[in-house]
Amino acid sequence: MSLQLKPDYRGAYHFSPSRCWMNDPNGMVYLDGEYHLFFQHHPFGETWGPMHWGHAITRDLVHWEELPIALEPDEHGTIFSGSAVVDWHNTTGFFPGEPGLVAIFTHHDEQPDHPARQSQSLAYSHDRGRTWHKYEGNPVLKGGEQPDFRDPKVFWHEACSRWVMVLACGQTIALYHSPDLKNWTESSIFGADIGCHDGVWECPDLFELPVQDAPGLSRWVMLVSIGDDGKGREGSRTQYFTGHFDGNVFLPDEASRQVRWLDHGRDNYAGVSWSDIPQQDGRRLYLGWMSNWRYANVTPTGSWRGAMTIARELLLEMTNTGTQLRQLPVTELQSARRPVLILEQAPLEQVQQAMQALRLDSYELLVQADRDVSFELQVRIGASCCTRIGVDARTDELYIDRTASGQSAFHEHFADRHHAPLYPIQGKRELRILVDRASVEVFADQGRTVMTDLIFPEPDADRLMLTAADGDTELYTIEVYDLSGREE
Ligand code: FRU
Repeated sequence: MSLQLKPDYRGAYHFSPSRCWMNDPNGMVYLDGEYHLFFQHHPFGETWGPMHWGHAITRDLVHWEELPIALEPDEHGTIFSGSAVVDWHNTTGFFPGEPGLVAIFTHHDEQPDHPARQSQSLAYSHDRGRTWHKYEGNPVLKGGEQPDFRDPKVFWHEACSRWVMVLACGQTIALYHSPDLKNWTESSIFGADIGCHDGVWECPDLFELPVQDAPGLSRWVMLVSIGDDGKGREGSRTQYFTGHFDGNVFLPDEASRQVRWLDHGRDNYAGVSWSDIPQQDGRRLYLGWMSNWRYANVTPTGSWRGAMTIARELLLEMTNTGTQLRQLPVTELQSARRPVLILEQAPLEQVQQAMQALRLDSYELLVQADRDVSFELQVRIGASCCTRIGVDARTDELYIDRTASGQSAFHEHFADRHHAPLYPIQGKRELRILVDRASVEVFADQGRTVMTDLIFPEPDADRLMLTAADGDTELYTIEVYDLSGREE
């Protein structure tokens, strides 16, 4: 007799809340060996509701520990998205002794007698984010008539010796500065005449990155998430701009006149970067919410809903079409790997024979082939489902086809094929694919094209296979690593 198990969609190496609803990552900051992740959380239901800040920490960017709720709604409203910083020099006066954490977040005030109002507020912590005090002077930055005025991301601007805030304001980003996080002055407005305006702008981030292989050269990167306007098939997604920033004005590069997407899949939204990563580390670390407002409230996960992407490193590269972002899974993930298959320069048949024997649901898969070869990886294959990830060498396209990936009836737009341009490269094409119980993240050609998609396969969907339409002579290098955390 076979027992029909319920699928377990909780990722083995992706953060999801133990129970109830989660959306955006918030307050990402590093202090004393801990990477903090706060998150938009509704602790009384599995759908979006009155927002709190949930809290989790990791020491290695792979294993997470969930902590009690950090911020609860108060007389000013519920707690929408925002950021956190370490106030090293006690600019706020909150930290006469040791430096501590300040959270800068949006109060969302929705009352029957007036339209929703949004304003920015502070909370501070003396004990590494375990307990928080709301500032008695809240809110510190009030909105006017503007209904969408939220998601402050704050950083210390070294050259001007003051704090900078980027804030989503309708379909623009407002930039402010402050000496103490309490008094804010508007510096400029960005974005009215550039970028994609298909929906409300949300969750901005702004940071400087060195340009790879160009000593002394750097650019500023502005991330802007765009809400779901209900049209098209994409739903919510994140665009980015590169340019210059002098502490007041962000001046986009010419390349930013073309809309550029951070991730070409459907399920990476509202992502921002960690603050206060130590200088000797020097990386710009990022993660996003692995869902899409189009169907986020109806995904079939049960008593919890929402997961984050893997933590990623953001890199910047100069190409002949301007500066371009690359993303790679953090190298820390390598320490969680257990190798299960390594083949170098093997013909298709040999790869297929070796893959035939594998049974995995949480793993990393690396495939290299010549750049003119079209091939397809089928992952989470079960009796009645399969997710296809492939390269079409004729059109230089990467795709994820989740039309038959498992459960999809919860939303008519879920079952679909998504594709993205691949960049011309020399030599080998490479796909690094992170598969977990309910997601695939594809990093093509060292993170030059990235796609993140949710999937909801059947419980038996633990097989994988490589296929290619033509060419018995092609050779593939394959690496497969178990990431389930289970020992063999
Ligand atoms: C983005 C967002 C933010 C807002 C939060 C509310 O997903 O809409 O703009 O602060 O979610 O939960």
